[in-house]
Amino acid sequence: MTATAAPSESLSRHGNEHGHRPYEPVFVDGSPARAELDTLLTRYPNKMAALLPALWTVQHARGWVSDEAMAEVSAVLDLTPAYVKGVVTFYTMYHQHPVGEHFIQVCTTTPCNVCGAEDVVNAFLEHTGCGELGLTSPDGKYTVIEVECLGACGFATPVQINDQYVESVTPERVPEVLAALR
Ligand code: FES
Repeated sequence: MTATAAPSESLSRHGNEHGHRPYEPVFVDGSPARAELDTLLTRYPNKMAALLPALWTVQHARGWVSDEAMAEVSAVLDLTPAYVKGVVTFYTMYHQHPVGEHFIQVCTTTPCNVCGAEDVVNAFLEHTGCGELGLTSPDGKYTVIEVECLGACGFATPVQINDQYVESVTPERVPEVLAALR
């Protein structure tokens, strides 16, 4: 489920943080993220309304939304940390822990499942080195999860990789799909 458009790719770091480094604020004065947030704030009636895109900005910049990131967002939008955490934990598209550079979501709902989605999942787990659903590959590049209907039931099996859709994926096509990410 996507609640709002993601921010520009220019803010994407294409990496993740594994929680061992001190948190670096995203909305620093003079930064592209701060400029994007300031522009966003002109389009909404109040700061609270900009919460979802602000969280997207953080996730694209840092790879996930840590407690420190939630604290930063709550400060810049004058919201309580509890309110921000409530929103982050409600929407599954916000990562509450580090994930791979390529976050791979495979639809395994019934229509895709009967067309072989489980085999596609297993192929991704094997070729990425993730091994298990929800785990990140040792090189930090991939995380694979199953998701409900991606709205492309006529093109089984659809896969969403970060913000991109790939349709009609078969186990045989998985190496080619992964190669295109490199
Ligand atoms: S059931 Fe897989 S996209 Fe709809």
